[in-house]
Amino acid sequence: MASSSSFIATPTMSLLLLLLLLVGSSSAQLSTTFYSNSCPKLASTVKSVVQSAISKEKRMGASLVRLFFHDCFVNGCDGSILLDDTSSFTGEKNANPNRNSARGFDVIDNIKTAVEKVCPGVVSCADIVATAARDSVVTLGGPNWNVKLGRRDSKTASQSAANNGIPPPTSSLSNLISKFQGVGLSTKDMVALSGAHTIGQARCTNFRAHIYNETNIDTSFAQTRKGNCPLPSGSGDNNLAPLDIQTPTSFDNNYFKNLINTKGLLHSDQQLFNGGSTDSLVRSYSSNPSTFNSDFSAAMIKMGDISPLTGSSGEIRKNCRKTN
Ligand code: HEM
Ligand SMILES: *[C@@H]1O[C@H](CO)[C@@H](O)[C@H](O)[C@H]1NC(C)=O
Repeated sequence: MASSSSFIATPTMSLLLLLLLLVGSSSAQLSTTFYSNSCPKLASTVKSVVQSAISKEKRMGASLVRLFFHDCFVNGCDGSILLDDTSSFTGEKNANPNRNSARGFDVIDNIKTAVEKVCPGVVSCADIVATAARDSVVTLGGPNWNVKLGRRDSKTASQSAANNGIPPPTSSLSNLISKFQGVGLSTKDMVALSGAHTIGQARCTNFRAHIYNETNIDTSFAQTRKGNCPLPSGSGDNNLAPLDIQTPTSFDNNYFKNLINTKGLLHSDQQLFNGGSTDSLVRSYSSNPSTFNSDFSAAMIKMGDISPLTGSSGEIRKNCRKTN
């Protein structure tokens, strides 16, 4: 006993262990072929559930894209947003950015059930979220990309990390830039990813101040939105309006055209085109859909790389809502 522990403690041995750890962590990278052998039907299985959910309700594609963003921005892309509250932690579902807002959990459950049928115990919920986001974008007419896989699922979730990590719609441009920088995403990534607001809906409570109190907004657009978002605050808080006034169920570059016309729905949206450093990127995406598509795809891949659990960290959950 004493001799074996003194053996482990030798400097050579410690160096070897350190080397092993380094090699271990650098080989534990995400890869597009991670499940090629262990779950060859993964891609087709996820796609078919996503397509059927979107055919029932187009908005679901937007909701699934947003789940990926809200997962990745809180302790990395680790499926933490999917965990229900327990006695040992308060999860992310009821954090401010998610409460009465994040949706699509039932679709993720349906995908998980279908995936468990074809390859039980193999695919993480975090990878399902990443794949469902890509399939949603493609289904709504946006770009395609190869999703990097091999993430594992967290054993915990954090409401406070969700409250602090996900930028609110009251954010200034500099707040947005620094929130994204904090997770390793550039200003260009931030502007490209914001183009996801070409699909989906927002609640009155999140755009009321912008339409009633701000001047960097088209007057008739503000008037239209006031029609279903009354004063005083508290009334009609959950009434919905499309983030893209033109084509809310098509993934295109109209979001950027709207910003140029001061028809951004959220205060944070219009911050991207308000006389500041990102105006030129907005102009470029508004006139060049293929640049937007390729920058968006690249940024989604980059967002998917935010501190994943790999190797033997975390677990492969059996049920996306609960730890094993
Ligand atoms: C740049 C900072 C961002 C802010 C401040 C922001 C804020 C918001 C807000 C307030 C809503 C409406 C929620 C509600 O009213 O219930 C929303 C919806 C949405 N967001 Fe963002 N967002 C940001 C970036 C992103 C990114 C990076 C993505 C994805 C790549 C994204 C995807 C979406 C989608 C698709 C919806 C519509 C969801 C649905 O209809 O269910 N957002 N966002
Ligand atoms: C508009 O601004 C005023 C003054 O700051 C504030 O009292 C009021 O609540 C704001 N209205 C909305 C709809 O945000």
